[in-house]
Amino acid sequence: MNSHSYQTALVTGASSGIGRAIAQRLVKEGLQVYAVGRDANALEALAAECKVTPLAVDLRDPSALADVFERVEIDVVVNNAGLLPAIARFDQSTPADIDAMIDINLRAPLRLAHRALDGMMKRKRGHLFFIGSSAGRFPHPNTAVYGATKAAISLFCDSLRCDLLGSKVRVTEIAPGRVQTSLYRTALGEQGANEKLYDAYRSIQPEHIAELIATAIALPDFVDVSRMEVFPTDQAPGGSQIVSVK
Ligand SMILES: NC(=O)c1ccc[n+]([C@@H]2O[C@H](COP(=O)([O-])OP(=O)(O)OC[C@H]3O[C@@H](n4cnc5c(N)ncnc54)[C@H](OP(=O)(O)O)[C@@H]3O)[C@@H](O)[C@H]2O)c1
Repeated sequence: MNSHSYQTALVTGASSGIGRAIAQRLVKEGLQVYAVGRDANALEALAAECKVTPLAVDLRDPSALADVFERVEIDVVVNNAGLLPAIARFDQSTPADIDAMIDINLRAPLRLAHRALDGMMKRKRGHLFFIGSSAGRFPHPNTAVYGATKAAISLFCDSLRCDLLGSKVRVTEIAPGRVQTSLYRTALGEQGANEKLYDAYRSIQPEHIAELIATAIALPDFVDVSRMEVFPTDQAPGGSQIVSVK
């Protein structure tokens, strides 16, 4: 017997990493899960494992999902898809990379939340999740746009909670530190990412983030876990840099 009353979920970025684990975990929770990503083969492989409904959609055009919201009452939306195409100083970043991060990390989640709220507000139930990042809460070099999109998501969540007061619709931001996924595959290459970020460290795994989502939905609907920040024991944010110009 599940402790929540939700029946359906839509998870973006379900073809890989954190989103894939979340989709699998929500299926275990008894939800019908709509799994969104561009990689149709990866989504089919997931569907073969755990019976999600695959939706191969490029979130640069979030209106491609309008049809799902018309057909299905979606209870849980996990805005997880995101990208970090390069690790580079802002002045050396390409306009295409800047736009891609704004489109996928910021515009798409806002548009999806807007679409989902249409039904959630009428039904007076639902749960919106946003996967932010520690990069949106603390400055990091070479990820200024990524950090800006995640910071925007974070304040959006706080403000949205004000707008939704009394509606019973919950909003949860999860802001992780380092999680072992393929996020850095374009920036560092799969092997480079392993060598630089994962091999020598004990990283959070995608399943740990999925567990947080299962915990948040299991609480009574008058309890909203507004933000969860989660770091590996071996990672701490903060500090400062100072350079000599002499
Ligand atoms: N890994 C970390 O250390 C870490 C830390 C903090 C926050 N996060 C956040 O966690 C979230 C998930 O990332 P991850 O680490 O699991 O990385 P990942 O393995 O690279 O997964 C990213 C997902 O986003 C999807 N995506 C990217 N562009 C898309 C587009 N145009 N349309 C539709 N889907 C798109 C990808 O699907 P397709 O390729 O199939 O399109 C993929 O499923 C991101 O928001 C990321 O910023 C990650």
